[in-house]
Amino acid sequence: MNRETIEAAGVRLRLFRDADLDDLMAGCSDPLTRRFLPHLPVPYTGADAHWWISEGTATVWTRGGAAYAIADPTTDRLLGGIGIDHVAPSRHQGEVGYWVGPWARGRGVATAAATLLAGRALTHGFARLELLTEPENVASQRVALGSGFSREGIRRSAGNTPDGGRHDLVAWARLATDPPGPAARLLPDLPGGTLTDGVVTLRPLTAAHTGFVHRLQSLPDVVASSVPPVAPNRAEVAARCAGAPGRWLAGERADLVILDTTSGTPTGEIGLYYQEPQTGQAMIGYAMSPAWRGRGYPTRAVRLLARWAFADAGIERLIAGALPDNAGSRRVLEKAGFRREGELRGRLPGPAGQRLDDLLYGLLPEDLDR
Ligand SMILES: CC(C)(COP(=O)(O)OP(=O)(O)OC[C@H]1O[C@@H](n2cnc3c(N)ncnc32)[C@H](O)[C@@H]1OP(=O)(O)O)[C@@H](O)C(=O)NCCC(=O)NCCS
Repeated sequence: MNRETIEAAGVRLRLFRDADLDDLMAGCSDPLTRRFLPHLPVPYTGADAHWWISEGTATVWTRGGAAYAIADPTTDRLLGGIGIDHVAPSRHQGEVGYWVGPWARGRGVATAAATLLAGRALTHGFARLELLTEPENVASQRVALGSGFSREGIRRSAGNTPDGGRHDLVAWARLATDPPGPAARLLPDLPGGTLTDGVVTLRPLTAAHTGFVHRLQSLPDVVASSVPPVAPNRAEVAARCAGAPGRWLAGERADLVILDTTSGTPTGEIGLYYQEPQTGQAMIGYAMSPAWRGRGYPTRAVRLLARWAFADAGIERLIAGALPDNAGSRRVLEKAGFRREGELRGRLPGPAGQRLDDLLYGLLPEDLDR
């Protein structure tokens, strides 16, 4: 890669210059930037910004990488930074990183910059570009998908923080041979962000629901139908809720909270686990708070989620399991149109080390409106 300015789709990638100093300091001092780029100096001073502009970027270029300022093509104001580092020359591989200042977020700047830089690098010597995001960094994972990077998996404990902590990172890559455009997703976003029938509203689960989900998943009858049948601790629930948007983007599962539409109160949760994309089969599961049981809410939630799965996510068949003595759950499935298809002997681990039978239910699109 040479150092020439490149421009497309509303962003200019150019070299940093002295006039960027104040914006560079502001962008690198921003709490969100610091949260997800934990190795930036704290505080990020004028001297740090000056070093990056005059020396740091040159070092990255000399290593075979790239260190661009993202600028507004009309005003030339600094919007952020993007580059390629950790270059492995013999493997024609490098790692992309970026940030956008709070004054320019949420309008496609990072996605446009990553698309432009990746397109350039993959036609100028690189065969493979990697990108590492924290599982909780939803915006960055959306940038990855939007700029054509495919999710490859979790690198366990690959990230570290200056205080000695370690955390997992999601690995993404874009190859020179990948088709142009955004990477495909197995599970799309909900249209307008929610599903509702006027009585219940389903919303994607997030870290904000941790307390509610922890209380729900600690209920004895919810534990009894969980795998494994053990109450989770709060830290496990917090990690699960914070990671839910990322698992949705990964196409693994769609986890949602069931709200009472009128009051907005969380009443339960429902999840769709895309266990077999090859055959178009996904599994659903749900749980309701005791105070909200007996109102038909889970049946409504199952119907809403099933309609979305068949119409928007390209899923062809839904399955669900119920323990033989779980009459309430079996009734929910039957009312939503599921048919009982079999009894899976010794399918599930029981609380005392025994194995439990599981009743298998299935739903096809034509069953929904019977
Ligand atoms: C990640 C970051 C660069 C995104 O910059 P941006 O210019 O706002 O990104 P875009 O406008 O291209 O938006 C990307 C997507 O994220 C979504 N998004 C933005 N902020 C979001 C948020 N807080 N939560 C969920 N999604 C968000 C946008 O809606 C958009 O989605 P779409 O592509 O499906 O339409 C910016 O948030 C940032 O600087 N974060 C701190 C540093 C960082 O995380 N760097 C990456 C380390 S891996």
